[in-house]
Amino acid sequence: MRVTVIGLGFVGLSLTAFLSSKKINVIGIDSNEKKIENLEKNIADFFEPDLITFLRKGRKFQKFSRTINSESLDSDFIFITVGTPLDKKDQINLEYVKIVIKKISHNLKKSSKKVNIILKSTVVPNTAMTIVKTVLENDGHVEGKEFEVISNPEFLREGSAMKDTISPHVIVIGGRNHKVRQNLMSFYKSIYPKNQEYFETNNTTAEMIKYANNAFLATKISFINSLANICQKVPGTNVDDIANVMGLDPRISGLFLKAGPGYGGSCFPKDVQALISFSKSVGYDAKLLEAVQENNQKQVLIISSILKKYLRNLKGKKIGILGLSFKENTDDIRESVSIRLIEYLIKKECKMFVHDPKAIKNTKKIFKDKITYVKKFEDVFNMSDCAVLMTPWSIYKKISSKQIKKMKKQFFIDTRRMLDINDKEIIFVSLGIGKDE
Ligand SMILES: NC(=O)c1ccc[n+]([C@@H]2O[C@H](COP(=O)([O-])OP(=O)(O)OC[C@H]3O[C@@H](n4cnc5c(N)ncnc54)[C@H](O)[C@@H]3O)[C@@H](O)[C@H]2O)c1
Repeated sequence: MRVTVIGLGFVGLSLTAFLSSKKINVIGIDSNEKKIENLEKNIADFFEPDLITFLRKGRKFQKFSRTINSESLDSDFIFITVGTPLDKKDQINLEYVKIVIKKISHNLKKSSKKVNIILKSTVVPNTAMTIVKTVLENDGHVEGKEFEVISNPEFLREGSAMKDTISPHVIVIGGRNHKVRQNLMSFYKSIYPKNQEYFETNNTTAEMIKYANNAFLATKISFINSLANICQKVPGTNVDDIANVMGLDPRISGLFLKAGPGYGGSCFPKDVQALISFSKSVGYDAKLLEAVQENNQKQVLIISSILKKYLRNLKGKKIGILGLSFKENTDDIRESVSIRLIEYLIKKECKMFVHDPKAIKNTKKIFKDKITYVKKFEDVFNMSDCAVLMTPWSIYKKISSKQIKKMKKQFFIDTRRMLDINDKEIIFVSLGIGKDE
């Protein structure tokens, strides 16, 4: 058994690490030369818990390359896991997928074996059946004889990518041909436990399932954030108590009902936007999803309005930011609300002092020397007038009112309600908890 994985980011590298740890030969391909050089030395260019351990475990079964050639096509399955960002018009950019398919098509001419292309990247409905199939057919290749296309969306979460790859909540297999779907399912059955959940469908439904999941989760987050913003203005209310009781209702479930500064990362903002644009292209105005995105964008203004309320004038204020990654346990800052808040506060001429256990290196690429990077979070309190906790890294649980008192304005915003501080001498604002003035 041999598989090829094209695109070694969060999805592709987690898959490579898991499969190779199961003694399956994997050819991992990425167009980024530096990434390949690093992987050959067992170095990943992003942080993900347990990833290195699994990569090391499977090292003997991995082969890394920069190019797609006929050897990489000589595999039982070719997984495509390249990025699918948004373009300038806020529509999905399928350029990387197209480039990969073109290269497969080129090499297919030299091969006598049928290739099974497994599309794991998140792509809008019809991508497999129009874009991918059309590129191959326009080059004279015949579906069923020379290639098959299966849509197999990925549901992993950054921060627990290995855990989710090892035990996915479901494996969705979408394709036209039952036998081909079954082939992929048999492969999965050989590596996953007997009780693994599967769902078989056509390509387009499989593609839509991924968007449905992400759009629904984003909606839940925007819903609870709206509720938190209302609670903020109603003394005595606590959004966590409300969410906990809502979660007891079996029709709702408590997951993704944790209010905060808004969702970020490389998936929710782009996938909800791609679905809005896709809906428009097929003649439907997805108003609900537009509101979900707008609500999320405005969370930065909610935080800045609290800052303005207590600081009055933002100009020249020294503001500490605790947490830069879009969530804990990752160094990914793509679409992170912390980054948007810092950009906003720099425009207001604030002086920024930022800390994160993992994401400083990535943040430096954006802000360079415009802000101060603080190594130990305790020092943020020595340098700032006030501070905002943005990402719920567990080390921040240690923050005390004594530390907050070191800041000139003795003012702290906890956007995640991580801390339980009751000290009348400081201004302590928990997002989503209404307080008497
Ligand atoms: N990150 C997540 O949490 C997550 C979860 C589920 C699904 N997805 C989806 O999976 C896909 C990949 O996401 P990701 O976060 O792993 O992306 P990523 O940006 O971390 O990695 C993509 C990789 O593809 C490589 N690449 C780009 N063009 C290439 C080419 N022509 N040939 C070879 N390699 C190429 C890039 O160099 C990069 O290493 C996206 O569609 C994303 O929406 C992501």
